[in-house]
Amino acid sequence: MDLFEYQARDLFEKHGVPVLAGAIATTPEEARAAAERIGPKSGGVTVVKAQVKTGGRGKAGGVKVAKSADEAQAYAEQILGMDIKGHTVKKVMIAQGASIAEEYYFSILLDRANRTYLAMCSKEGGMDIEQLAVERPEALAKITVDPNVGVDPAKAQEIVAAAGFDADTAAKVAPVLEKLWEVYRDEDATLVEVNPLVKTGDGEIVALDGKVSIDGNSEFRHPEHEEFVDHSKTDPLEVLAVEKGLNYVKLDGNIGIIGNGAGLVMSTLDVVAYAGEKHQRGEARQLPRHRWRRLGRGHGQRTRRHLRGRAGQGCLRQRLRWDHRL
Ligand SMILES: Nc1ncnc2c1ncn2[C@@H]1O[C@H](COP(=O)(O)OP(=O)(O)OP(=O)(O)O)[C@@H](O)[C@H]1O
Ligand SMILES: [Mg+2]
Repeated sequence: MDLFEYQARDLFEKHGVPVLAGAIATTPEEARAAAERIGPKSGGVTVVKAQVKTGGRGKAGGVKVAKSADEAQAYAEQILGMDIKGHTVKKVMIAQGASIAEEYYFSILLDRANRTYLAMCSKEGGMDIEQLAVERPEALAKITVDPNVGVDPAKAQEIVAAAGFDADTAAKVAPVLEKLWEVYRDEDATLVEVNPLVKTGDGEIVALDGKVSIDGNSEFRHPEHEEFVDHSKTDPLEVLAVEKGLNYVKLDGNIGIIGNGAGLVMSTLDVVAYAGEKHQRGEARQLPRHRWRRLGRGHGQRTRRHLRGRAGQGCLRQRLRWDHRL
């Protein structure tokens, strides 16, 4: 389950990661009220941030610095309802403005291929991190993290050293990385990413933007994560299925498949395709998800795309396997 930025912010705060004040608004008026509350902490400046579960919000015009509550309201009006890569903005976060001296990048994620965790860190964070990773990969330090040890003080030192921070900054960043590891471990995350992690004008280290994905398999020991579920996005039939303890994704078409295992259902899909169903034309399909392997809504959406894809149906299973690293 991917979290919204404001939810990641709250988790960071819970674990002692330094963050700035932030409040959620669903209307321009609420945005104004939030800016009136939060603005005074930072000379009247707030940042209006689109809350969508996709990257590149800043570049799409979904992150705006407002110098007054009036401006915050106007920006909220612009941003609410905006479409960012197919995601409609229904909420904005009004964040306290930071005076940014430097922007860094940090993430820790599950490295399935190598059966370990991987930390990535750069002292050149910010909105162009993807470009940096492609053009100058050496500027993005990649350090393996032993799941049994995690990011202890020694590992945090190794990470900041590999990223090339000066001694002063390294000493301030390292403890924040340890806290971010605690978020990763204690919340059963598969991804914790901070971009940018900033050094402010006062030399403080603050997480300005966070992305967290929670491992769906840990649901049973985190009843408190229920509050993160985005019910507004869920199909009513899927909600009903969840109530009944079933995993179900409604798709187009007229063929229903019920199976008790991802492998079995995918094989059945392949067989149905082999028997002449034209799922590349989007005619068929209802695909139940599986009780034992809750893949979340993204699974269904991707499956839908695969079903409609032009590429060989025989590869469906492999492609799903790859996508979800089943
Ligand atoms: N609270 C803030 N105060 C000052 N500047 C901010 C604040 N939040 C974000 N910014 C600036 O806006 C830029 C973009 O913000 P942010 O990282 O949240 O969005 P994004 O990176 O475009 O979104 P995503 O991470 O989803 O790709 C940051 O790199 C930072 O320079
Ligand atoms: Mg960001």
